[in-house]
Amino acid sequence: MDVIVKASAEAVADFVHEQLLEHIKLSPASVLGLPTGGTPEPIYARLVESYRSGLVSWKDITTFNLDEYIGLGADHPGSYATYMRERLFDHVDGPAEHHHIPNGLAGDPAGEAAEYEGKIAAAGGIDLMLLGLGQNGHIGFNEPGSSFQSRTRAVDLTPSTIAANQRFFGAGELPPRKAISMGIGTILEARRIIVVATGEVKAVAVRRMLGEQKTPDLPASALQDGRNVMVVLDALAASEYRGAPFVP
Ligand code: PGA
Repeated sequence: MDVIVKASAEAVADFVHEQLLEHIKLSPASVLGLPTGGTPEPIYARLVESYRSGLVSWKDITTFNLDEYIGLGADHPGSYATYMRERLFDHVDGPAEHHHIPNGLAGDPAGEAAEYEGKIAAAGGIDLMLLGLGQNGHIGFNEPGSSFQSRTRAVDLTPSTIAANQRFFGAGELPPRKAISMGIGTILEARRIIVVATGEVKAVAVRRMLGEQKTPDLPASALQDGRNVMVVLDALAASEYRGAPFVP
């Protein structure tokens, strides 16, 4: 794992944006894995700007989002489909058929998850996976206890994840308790992974991800086995971590 620490969240977004831009320019038909949440928002804003400036085209890019809430349709304001359209997809070129997100209203979530895996495989796998990090160490919605071999599946969210995501929902509206998430095994197969964490609330998860023996209690520690993993942190997220990444 390469660990890169930048002074601020803005500097992290600048750096990760540059990495993505370079990747897309070199591989304009590549397959990207994409996260939602607060961390990637400034990165998506920069990608929209660079598209508008003519620096990059998304027309041949294929995307697979990490997860979607079960029970929310693509038009629900709290769905990740809405999040992605508003932050990125509505503002760049490329047909909607290139942008994959699990269907949160699928009658058979297990079947939907299996189909999603099939679509990733049919696309040739994920070239570059961008990941956020949960305060509890989750990646995607792979909560503590998830198997490192897990594939895309229906999952239960922990109370801390539901509380952390409340801010994306209206007052009095609870986020769903279940989701379809890419599995840890699915994520680890990506040919390149960039993990981004900013803010003091991520400092403990970062320390455990980088500095401790891997354990399903801290799902992000599975990334110690990932191919070509880059971790990009701001100074606050790096504040608990001292030293070189843990080498099993
Ligand atoms: P955040 O979420 O970017 O909103 O902090 C990250 C995550 O939970 O994976």
